[in-house]
Amino acid sequence: PLPTAMLVRGSILHFLADPGEACNTAAWEYFADGALLIEDGLVRRCGPWAEVLENLPEVIRDAARYRDYTGKLIVPGFVDTHTHYAQMKVMGSFGRELLDWLENYTYPAEIAFEDETLASSTASFFLDRLLAHGTTTASVFATVHAHSVDAFFFEAERRKLRMLCGKVLMDRHCPQALRDSPESAWRESSALINRWHGKGRLAYSVSPRFAPTSSPEQLAVAGDLFRSRPDMHLQSHLSENWRELEWVGELFPGRRDYLDVYEHYGLLGRGAIYGHGIHLSPDEKQRLAQSAAAIAFCPSSNLFLGSGFFHYAATAEASVQVGLASDVGAGTSLSMLRTMAAAHTVSQAQHQPLSPWRAWYLATLGGAQALALDQFVGNFTAGKEADFVVLDGRRIPELRFRLDCAESLAEELFALMLLGDERCVAATHILGERVFCAE
Ligand code: GUN
Ligand code: ZN
Repeated sequence: PLPTAMLVRGSILHFLADPGEACNTAAWEYFADGALLIEDGLVRRCGPWAEVLENLPEVIRDAARYRDYTGKLIVPGFVDTHTHYAQMKVMGSFGRELLDWLENYTYPAEIAFEDETLASSTASFFLDRLLAHGTTTASVFATVHAHSVDAFFFEAERRKLRMLCGKVLMDRHCPQALRDSPESAWRESSALINRWHGKGRLAYSVSPRFAPTSSPEQLAVAGDLFRSRPDMHLQSHLSENWRELEWVGELFPGRRDYLDVYEHYGLLGRGAIYGHGIHLSPDEKQRLAQSAAAIAFCPSSNLFLGSGFFHYAATAEASVQVGLASDVGAGTSLSMLRTMAAAHTVSQAQHQPLSPWRAWYLATLGGAQALALDQFVGNFTAGKEADFVVLDGRRIPELRFRLDCAESLAEELFALMLLGDERCVAATHILGERVFCAE
């Protein structure tokens, strides 16, 4: 039988590597009049329209479905490397800094997830909104409740999404209602892993909240879970806020710095990603790079909670893999375009402005690499899963006005990330199929 072929036409941009500080032009491909040939949900070819069409066997050309996005920009689906679906309800809640924001808003919102129907309805809403923002893959914290992971994965599987999620592990220094134990952490996580890891496009991420809310015994369990499968993922928080840093120092006096706590319990390695990493020493950066663990750069969250400015240039320079993240609900938008703008603001405040090339890399291939999912998604090389977003900056009047006088692709991309948001998302496709369409 003939594979189900699909031809998509539009301006296409994707990355093959990190363009780096020097904006290496070999790191990306751009086809002003481009084609994506998709078969059975996977990218078969990506190139200039005329060339792809010319090399196409007639039987496939005749049988293919066509989707014309001429005049619009097609990029790989955005990758959000750190977010909390249970925190949708606390977005935009006035807080002072991390620790009181957690107590006043975040923990109460997560306690409410005892209610399974709230977990299901929120998971469904969250995933629909991600797709409306052009985000097709994310690393997502559930809550301490095992059913919050079931709810999320159930909704993600229905939508055929490539998603990471895990049950939050926390057994101390938080409300009683949110505490598990080392034993229940092991038992419930193992059951969830058996149920969901590798099912469809889903993978499990072991999710100790952060060092202060897990006992040493529970961190050891997290290490065992992380090592329990070769392709296991892990997500947590690292070095976000000065008071948090002091607290970790008091709780783990035997460890030489914050990173050493996670290192000691075997929580570093490829597939592990830590939110924030703002206040890291050069030595911690070097050890992170050696371990192949990644950092999720959460600029809107860091600005919102006054956590500080993440040093993107220095961290990337130290060969640490970095992804971009909304960190909702401390983050103020699910939009990766807005997140790119915030990342630029944070970098500019340190006089090391983020180039459009690096920003668009971070939101796509860079995020996939940071999550160790780049063998599946992140760009349009042959064999990748055909998740993509169609952007039309002209849907925003001010942006249309600006784009009319843009003189280069770099200018267009920069204006799009600075002035754009989810209003620019014309369509989102998963495995080739359109799952979101504006108006
Ligand atoms: N550190 C520990 N938990 C959290 C959380 O939920 N959000 C943020 N931003 N930081 C954290
Ligand atoms: Zn977070």
